Amino acid sequence: MKTAVFSVKPYDKKFLRAANGDDALKFEFYEERLNHHTAALAGGRRAICVFVNDLLDSRCLDVLHGHGVRFIALRCAGFNHVDLRHATALGIKVTHVPAYSPYAVAEFALALILALNRKTHRAYNRVRDGNFSIDGLLGFDLHGCTVGIIGTGKIGMVFANLLRGFGVNVLGHDPFPNPAFASAGGRYVERDELFARSDIISLHCPLTPETFHVVSEESIERMKKGVMIINTSRGALVDAKAVIRGLKSEYLGYLGLDVYEQEADFFYENLSETIIHDDVLQRLITFPNVLITSHQAYFTDTALGNIAETTVANLTACKEGAALNNEVTVEMLHR
Ligand code: NAI
Repeated sequence: MKTAVFSVKPYDKKFLRAANGDDALKFEFYEERLNHHTAALAGGRRAICVFVNDLLDSRCLDVLHGHGVRFIALRCAGFNHVDLRHATALGIKVTHVPAYSPYAVAEFALALILALNRKTHRAYNRVRDGNFSIDGLLGFDLHGCTVGIIGTGKIGMVFANLLRGFGVNVLGHDPFPNPAFASAGGRYVERDELFARSDIISLHCPLTPETFHVVSEESIERMKKGVMIINTSRGALVDAKAVIRGLKSEYLGYLGLDVYEQEADFFYENLSETIIHDDVLQRLITFPNVLITSHQAYFTDTALGNIAETTVANLTACKEGAALNNEVTVEMLHR
C-alpha cells in the first residue's frame, strides 16, 4: 500500500524502514509539513502518515479526501491537530500510537526540573567560556518540595513514580483518578488546591477545550510566588503572554517548555540563519530562568522504535482490512 509520509526527518526514515522489514508498505517520504496547501502531495495514495505539527483541519481533510485518502496514521499519541468529527464525516479512519514510551517524556520533564533548578545549562556555557564563577547558579533542594501533576495518565504516573526517590510531596489532579496514584505516593486534590500548594507544577494532560490555557493570567495568580511550571504536553496548555507577564513581575520563578503554542512554525527546523518574527517566543528565550526545547521529550531510540512499529502495524491493519486496534474515535474527544 502506497503511503505518503509527511514531516519526515532522517531519523523517521531510518526507524520506519527498519519496522517495515520486508518492504510490505510502500513509503513515499516528504519533508513538507501537511496542511491544506501541501495535501495534494498525497494524491494517488489511500493512506498517509503524519506527525504532531501537521495540521489536519477540515480544509486539509477535504483536499485529502478529494485525492482519495481514506486512512491517516498518526505517528504520535495526541490527536488535537486532527478535526476528528470532519474526518469521521468523510469516512476517513484515523489511528494513533497510544503509548510509545511514557518513560521518555517523564524523564525529560524531570530533566527540565533539575536543569532549571540547578542551572546546569548555564553552568555548561560559563565553564566553556572560562567563567568558573557560581554566583547566580544557586538552586534549592527538591527534597521536601511539593510537586503538582496535572494529568495522571501514562506519563503522569511514570513521572509520579520517578519523583518517589526525591522525597517530595506529590499532588495530582485528574478528572479520571487512577487508583495507582496513591501507591506512587501521590494524593489527588482539586486543581485550585494543586495550584496553591505546589512549588513545581508539571502538565501531563491532553489539550482539550477544558485544558486550553490551563496556565493563564488567572491561574498564575492562584499559584505560589516563585513556582516552577513545566510543560511537556501541548503548547496551548500555557498562555505564553500570561507567563511572560508572570516572569517579568518575578512572580513566576522558573519555566520549562518542551512545547509552544505556535511551535509548528519553528520546531524541528534549523532557523539559525533567519530572523524569527515571533516576539513572544523570542522574549521567552531571553529569560535566564526559562528553558525551552524543541518538542524533544519523546526523542529516544526506544520511543522512535515503538512509534515506527505501531505505525507500521496500524498501516498493515488498514491494508489488510483487519480490526484497527489503535483507532482514534470521536468518543475519545470526551475522555
Ligand atoms: P494519557 O491519555 O495516558 O493521560 C492523560 C491524562 O490526562 C488522563 O489520565 C486524563 O484523564 C487526564 N486529563 C484529561 N483531561 C484533564 C483535565 N482537564 N485535567 C487534568 N487531567 C486531565 O496520555 P499520556 O500518554 O500520559 O500523554 C499526556 C500528554 O503528553 C499527551 O496528551 C501529549 O499531549 C503529551 N505528549 C508529549 C510528548 C512530547 O514529546 N513532548 C510525547 C508524548 C505525549
